[in-house]
Amino acid sequence: MSFLKEIQRRRTFGIISHPDAGKTTLTEKLLLFGGAIQEAGAVKSNKIKKGATSDFMEIERQRGISVATSVLAFEYDGIKINILDTPGHKDFAEDTFRTLTAVDSVIVVIDVAKGVEEQTEKLVEVCRMRNIPMIVFINKLDREGKDAFDLLDEIEQKLGLTVSPLSFPIGMGYDFKGIYNIWEKNINLFSGDSRKNIEETIEVSDLSSPELDELVGEKAANTLREEIELVEGIYPQFNKDDYLKGNLQPVFFGSALNNFGVRELLDCFVEIAPKPRPKQSEERLVEPNEDKFTGFVFKIHANMDPNHRDRLAFVKIVSGKFERNKPYLHVRHNKKLKFSSPNAFFAEKKEIVDVSYPGDIVGLHDTGNFKIGDTLTEGEEINYRGIPSFSPEHFRYINNADPLKSKQLYKGIDQLMDEGVAQLFTLDLNGRKVIGTVGALQYEVIQYRLEHEYGAKCTYENLNVFKACWVEAEDEKSEEYKDFLRVKQRFLAKDKHGQLVFLADSPFSLQMSQQKYPSLKFHFVSEFN
Ligand code: G4P
Repeated sequence: MSFLKEIQRRRTFGIISHPDAGKTTLTEKLLLFGGAIQEAGAVKSNKIKKGATSDFMEIERQRGISVATSVLAFEYDGIKINILDTPGHKDFAEDTFRTLTAVDSVIVVIDVAKGVEEQTEKLVEVCRMRNIPMIVFINKLDREGKDAFDLLDEIEQKLGLTVSPLSFPIGMGYDFKGIYNIWEKNINLFSGDSRKNIEETIEVSDLSSPELDELVGEKAANTLREEIELVEGIYPQFNKDDYLKGNLQPVFFGSALNNFGVRELLDCFVEIAPKPRPKQSEERLVEPNEDKFTGFVFKIHANMDPNHRDRLAFVKIVSGKFERNKPYLHVRHNKKLKFSSPNAFFAEKKEIVDVSYPGDIVGLHDTGNFKIGDTLTEGEEINYRGIPSFSPEHFRYINNADPLKSKQLYKGIDQLMDEGVAQLFTLDLNGRKVIGTVGALQYEVIQYRLEHEYGAKCTYENLNVFKACWVEAEDEKSEEYKDFLRVKQRFLAKDKHGQLVFLADSPFSLQMSQQKYPSLKFHFVSEFN
């Protein structure tokens, strides 16, 4: 197959949702359609039910042995689909944000009863900012939930989306009878007694057909006709261009657990979802069909198997062909590297591949060369942007608990930060190290990993910080800036790139600083240029 055809047949996306909305279940059903797995239950849920470290460690251990679940690839209708796994747990939100830099589109799963939840709001906001095309899947229609119109309203208001329903439910919960597919203009009936079977749906060709009254009853049939009229009156008609620009979001209804509405979602997805998209680097826009390979690291996975200490760096291919054993430039290090065993990912396994194409993810074995955000090229000096750090929510001093192991401790901290497990800040005043995390769980994870992977011990000490703010000065020579540096010295630190960060101890102190130093800008995100 030609290079261009290979690019055109790839679709790389992520599924985002609040935990428990049904992401794992949907992923599994998609894989079943692709024939990539044979039975339900094959995809391990990576969710942390109790929020306990032991859960996390167990998951990490399993993943360390089979990191394949980070990318799930399968073929459907001649299309190569790559699903990038995004952790739903809020403590790992940062990991999900980074993964979103590597997807070309997303599917948002919403629980029909719970509606729009907190994590969904945050993740959708990131996608909206980047104009990532989104399809919404409203799940669990077999259960009692919110009224479909109310839910569509909620999605528009809370998520700031412009929805265009492509399917519509007939009844709900106990009375759930099926779905009218606006996209394909047909009806799928939900057969109550064989709710687990993929094939058990009856198709009706047309909404006005009297057959509909026979199948769902006159009342439900009339309600549906009225509702569809309303849908057509209220919501914009689906338009692929608007969807691709991120201006319009098609909505599907279904029940992932019952495999209902999933095929419709998948069929529409392969037809409308974007092919690998061009990506902006600091230097220029890079097109997927360019001859020369470029790609960037969006995730680093530690190998928890004690016999294989190397890490796996996940590289999204942006342009050109990635070939095994060919030397590529690691732009940040200005060093050529060759990879003898790059991994490609399939549903349940990973394999060494010779060639990969734009849209694909390759896993590269790494002994510490890579950081998240690094770019690889065939020689050109370009740097992909768009993997910012967000202000952590928790801050603690990290102390060395075993003076004989300080080298191991610093190496461990360094590598864990490169993996993006947490953020490190070094205080200007005394050089003390502060670890910032999105969730409290990470502190235990770091402590555990430092001990088990690096043989180092650490303790933490509380530190009262409200937010880390990256400081931008209009004029670094101004008296105002100098005054700020002097007065706030105790609260200033450097992030891992040496950027200045103000660790504000309260919303009040941040507000006071904003008033006192109007020429300075305080950002909650590290990339603001
Ligand atoms: P997540 O990855 O988004 O966190 O959600 P996951 O797929 O694990 O689904 C969360 C729970 O919701 C699971 O039940 C799952 O079986 C259920 N679920 C998913 N889709 C549907 C659906 O269409 N209808 C109904 N009624 N339930 C659905 P659980 O009891 O928490 O987990 P499990 O013990 O069944 O694995």
